[in-house]
Amino acid sequence: MGARFVLNSLRAVDLDRAAHLHRQAFEPLDERGWTRQDIAGLLASPGVAGFLLTEGSSDIGMAICRVVADEAELLTVAVDPAHRRRGAARLLLEAVVDRVRDDGARTLFLEVGADNPGARTLYDSLGFRTAGRRAGYYARLGRPAVDASIMRLDLG
Ligand SMILES: CC(C)(COP(=O)(O)OP(=O)(O)OC[C@H]1O[C@@H](n2cnc3c(N)ncnc32)[C@H](O)[C@@H]1OP(=O)(O)O)[C@@H](O)C(=O)NCCC(=O)NCCS
Repeated sequence: MGARFVLNSLRAVDLDRAAHLHRQAFEPLDERGWTRQDIAGLLASPGVAGFLLTEGSSDIGMAICRVVADEAELLTVAVDPAHRRRGAARLLLEAVVDRVRDDGARTLFLEVGADNPGARTLYDSLGFRTAGRRAGYYARLGRPAVDASIMRLDLG
């Protein structure tokens, strides 16, 4: 059966669902999941937009981005572990690209941990290129912090 993903804006009523998705996705990476308050604070900030991907009654994934002048940043992308490798993140990132371009961004940046090769492959496949490195950028629960690569996508 084919996927029936539905993409919507992330709204205030979705905060618990988004926080649940974030915890499920990030805690296995030894990274603290965001709370509903974390996400509410971001959504209330200037230039921030969020997306929630569903399929029937299931929450599949979420993404949050921010535009400041002509630069945008992917703040997070998270997919339910039970629904990985079905194109959900690709769809969320395509929505992010369309949104930030419409909002005037010419470049989209993100950071990805050195211990996250799967996400790295995803970004490479979408055309992101490495633009720098931040040493010890990501705190990890119970193990040393890891470096982050800064990646950029030129939106033309
Ligand atoms: C990274 C993440 C968002 C990918 O979500 P996903 O919905 O499974 O990704 P997609 O199905 O859209 O993948 C698209 C392509 O990206 C690449 N990719 C995605 N996950 C990958 C993995 N674990 N290993 C290798 N390649 C991967 C593949 O090229 C894939 O295409 P293919 O399945 O046809 O080979 C998901 O694994 C996740 O939520 N991880 C935990 C949170 C996280 O790491 N977020 C990003 C932080 S920077």
